[in-house]
Amino acid sequence: MLAADVIVDLQYGDCGKGKVAHFLCKTKKYTHVLRYNGGANAGHTIFHNGKKFVTHQIPAGVFFGIKSVVGSGCVLDPEQFFAELKMLEEGGVDTKNKIFVATNTHIITDAHKAEDREVGGKIGTTGRGNGPAYREKYGRTGKRATEVEALKPYLLDLYQEWYGGKSVKVLAEGAQGFGLDIDWGDYPYVTSSHCTTAGALLNGLPPSSINHVWGVAKVYETYVGSKKFQPEGEIFNKIADIGEEYGATTGRRRQTNWMNMQTLERAIRLNGVTHIVFNKVDVLRTVGAWAVYDQDKKVEFKTEKAFKDFVSKRLKKLGILPKNVFFSESKDRI
Ligand code: IMP
Ligand code: MG
Repeated sequence: MLAADVIVDLQYGDCGKGKVAHFLCKTKKYTHVLRYNGGANAGHTIFHNGKKFVTHQIPAGVFFGIKSVVGSGCVLDPEQFFAELKMLEEGGVDTKNKIFVATNTHIITDAHKAEDREVGGKIGTTGRGNGPAYREKYGRTGKRATEVEALKPYLLDLYQEWYGGKSVKVLAEGAQGFGLDIDWGDYPYVTSSHCTTAGALLNGLPPSSINHVWGVAKVYETYVGSKKFQPEGEIFNKIADIGEEYGATTGRRRQTNWMNMQTLERAIRLNGVTHIVFNKVDVLRTVGAWAVYDQDKKVEFKTEKAFKDFVSKRLKKLGILPKNVFFSESKDRI
């Protein structure tokens, strides 16, 4: 049997995929957790046994002793990878024989990072070499994980792994989000990989293997990068402050805005979302305001209940069952 659940971010990243991954790993029996796109540009904040961990390359499965794989849809920075292994070990997480890199994963080099720091500023990249590494991959001048001596003990052939005869249940964990997707995001203010469910399939998983697709959103939007995103108004700074909206990778302050219903609907349809988690409900509660954009108009709600009812009704129209919709607080585990 080969089965997979997918976690996708429905906005611009930073919606709390790490938290959902953590929850699913704890409650379902996965044999593998697969990071399926992106590089060290991502930042997953995970609270495990009361300790805070920030990972950039290594998937959440490692916290549960589940085989964790950096997939072929990713680009890997070996320097960052080894630094993370060390950080996890020092934090008491057993990484031995738990962390693997697909043989056909491409490598981020020092030159990629230097180039990204120099020219990535125009769109406000994280400077982690992501774009240049993917450019070389598609230009057919890239370097694969098999060419890095130090990675040899960690290499894994995804074909063997998925189709080797054992029963496999994968949690495919995406990085970044729909609004940053290379094809569906606001180009050129995007990342260089596929952040959708389709991106998970690129790691050797057949479409028929996908069971549940967990979409993750926040009850407001945030974006980091150089386009203007945040409208005028003190309330948006308040949301950022109360929501502690600072990047896990670069420490940059995230721009904020109300949730856009059409962006959300596009992301739900395109990703084939079956379950959805809205994070940070408590932030708007503390701010004391509830609003969304719908068909380019701002719609305000008097109460939290009215907001949730409005959103839930829309999701029902899109075929998402009410029992599969979760509104979650910053501190919750769903
Ligand atoms: P890059 O992925 O570093 O090339 O950056 C491209 C755009 O994606 C920039 O606007 C980054 O801020 C954004 N970005 C990349 N990774 C993340 C992430 O994990 N969370 C939020 N934004 C991200
Ligand atoms: Mg993040």
